[in-house]
Amino acid sequence: MKIKAYAKINLTLDITGIRDDGFHSLRSVMVPVSLCDEIEINESDSFSFDCNIKELCSEDNLCVRAAKLFFATSGINALASLRLTKNIPFPAGLGGGSSDAAAVLRGLNSFFSSPLKETELFRLAESLGSDVPLCLLSRPALCEGRGEILTPIESLPSFDIVIAIGDGRLPTPAVYREYDAEERKVRNDTDLLLERLNCDRYSLAEAFGNAFEEVTDKLAPETKRLREQMLALGALNSHLSGSGPSVYGVFENAEKAQNAAKSLEKMGYFAVCCKTLS
Ligand code: C5P
Repeated sequence: MKIKAYAKINLTLDITGIRDDGFHSLRSVMVPVSLCDEIEINESDSFSFDCNIKELCSEDNLCVRAAKLFFATSGINALASLRLTKNIPFPAGLGGGSSDAAAVLRGLNSFFSSPLKETELFRLAESLGSDVPLCLLSRPALCEGRGEILTPIESLPSFDIVIAIGDGRLPTPAVYREYDAEERKVRNDTDLLLERLNCDRYSLAEAFGNAFEEVTDKLAPETKRLREQMLALGALNSHLSGSGPSVYGVFENAEKAQNAAKSLEKMGYFAVCCKTLS
């Protein structure tokens, strides 16, 4: 069995506070995009995990943790081999690892004839990471709480986007730490986007935003330059996804997106065209 694990981008990301457990409360509209990894599940006489990228072949991989959790919870013998083919850049703020884990949960549950109910799958997803529930849902949603409280959004159109990433690294905990280092005004991009759900794609794109840019523009100025490049190449809007370092640009159509991606590749960036999924 083969299953696709779609990347996600944050169209908005507002940080509304710090919780008692040390995590942050968020309000974010996240959408899956067509850029994806693939997971192949086969019957086997023992459990194994393999990946086309050797540095990801470890017991710590979220896929292995998701599989172990699935087998422990369902009581099913772990007689399956998993093979991950990675296409989503990492670490990038594109939810690649979270999406792989969600696909393993969904894939194993389907492979073994659905021993776990949806609610149980979502509970396991939540324990694996803040973005795993959204990846399991695999539809546009308003994400609140730590990211695990999901309200699906039905009415978003599909956008042609370019996802690009430079060389820099931006570890998520460090970005959150830096964000906390100063008192900050809470952004309200999410509410603005939700108010505009029935508007045209230009008004929608105008409402996209990411609170982390205040921090990442200083920590990784190349991400700011990349957003500026996207706008110079005709993007309607451009923002960091998650805690970065990937940046997405929203374009009027696929042709404009392809031209921009080609130009960014020539400048040395990894750049890929894809569509947001609805
Ligand atoms: O849940 P996940 O493993 O993706 O979180 C990675 C890190 O990001 C956490 O250890 C925490 O530092 C930060 N985080 C947070 N608040 C969230 C999500 C993540 O502080 N809502």
